[in-house]
Amino acid sequence: MADNKNRMILFAARPQGEPKASDFRLIETPTPEPGPNEMRLRVVYLGLDPIIRLRMNANTYWPSLELDKPLNGRTVTVVDKSNLPDYAPGDVIVTQGPWGDYMISNGKGMDGKPLPKFDPARGSITAPLHVLGITGFTAYIGLLEIGQAKEGETVVISGASGAVGSMAGQIAKIKGCRVVGIAGGDAKCAFIKNELGFDVAVDYKRPDFADALKAACPKGVDVYFENVGGAVFDAVFPLLNLHARVPVCGTVSEYNVTDREAIADKMPALLLATLGKRLTIKGFVISDHFARMPDFQREAGGWLREGKIKYKEEFVEGLENAPKAFNAMLKAETFGKVIVKVSEAPKR
Ligand SMILES: NC(=O)c1ccc[n+]([C@@H]2O[C@H](COP(=O)([O-])OP(=O)(O)OC[C@H]3O[C@@H](n4cnc5c(N)ncnc54)[C@H](OP(=O)(O)O)[C@@H]3O)[C@@H](O)[C@H]2O)c1
Repeated sequence: MADNKNRMILFAARPQGEPKASDFRLIETPTPEPGPNEMRLRVVYLGLDPIIRLRMNANTYWPSLELDKPLNGRTVTVVDKSNLPDYAPGDVIVTQGPWGDYMISNGKGMDGKPLPKFDPARGSITAPLHVLGITGFTAYIGLLEIGQAKEGETVVISGASGAVGSMAGQIAKIKGCRVVGIAGGDAKCAFIKNELGFDVAVDYKRPDFADALKAACPKGVDVYFENVGGAVFDAVFPLLNLHARVPVCGTVSEYNVTDREAIADKMPALLLATLGKRLTIKGFVISDHFARMPDFQREAGGWLREGKIKYKEEFVEGLENAPKAFNAMLKAETFGKVIVKVSEAPKR
């Protein structure tokens, strides 16, 4: 971070397919000064999320990103200068923030409520970017409320080594389900089985993936937590049981696809199976469920303290490397929650 400089990465152009370097623009402005009843937050960590790729498109289910404005995401920040009585330099705040060095805040979140301070005694200050934050909450709602997963059922999770999938699988284990995780390659499969305690891990990159998945689900699939779509969905689909539930969380394998017409039409088969097997295929957007965040944080905080939830993080040094890391994440070349270190963390 340059002294008295505020770097920001702007959204320069809507990508066609995989984002290019020219779709992002790094600018420098003077460090902003907080006005009366404002404070300046220094960004320490920036979490990268696949949803940003969808929001780069003109039409999507979440508000599209505006061109020439900073990209944004969940950030861990430290109060740097404050003209607000309730916030002092050094306070840690997790909030929606820019891909940048600093932001000015009036101390209120998007819901108009005061921004909560993060108590470092609660654990790692990066946990609210994933297990204690939006991705953990997404796993919780998707699995338990949308998917209605029950003890003894077979739950299949795609994107199982990622931020949402790894949490969904661990919650399913806590709830007594038999959990089959789908991940790419030996290392990620070993991680979800040996470290996270999934019952079985199946590698979607194997040529015999569909057969291996079938063998891993001898009683079929009761809940399929959909994170990736595409060929993985094709392999899970025939295994769905009568009354199976499919919480549709994301389809990250298709976010860079430009020609959606070219994707094979699964609709007739999907409708027939939905009827015959009485399937529930339900999309959900986590912002519709924010009222349940306190329940989640209480429960997940307990699981974390008891050592029942584990996680993996991949740190990237330097704001300027965020676009490259973002692309690597979309291509599943990263391993664990991708977190950009923008500036020095406060001493604990
Ligand atoms: N509905 C909502 O409100 C909501 C909220 C948050 C997130 N989401 C969605 O949840 C999903 C997971 O997000 P995340 O934060 O967990 O992302 P993440 O940490 O980047 O993980 C994504 C996972 O997707 C897998 N993946 C990527 N490309 C794939 C492909 N072509 N085929 C198969 N698997 C592939 C990767 O598997 P490997 O690394 O094993 O290859 C990776 O583990 C995304 O679709 C995201 O948009 C939805």
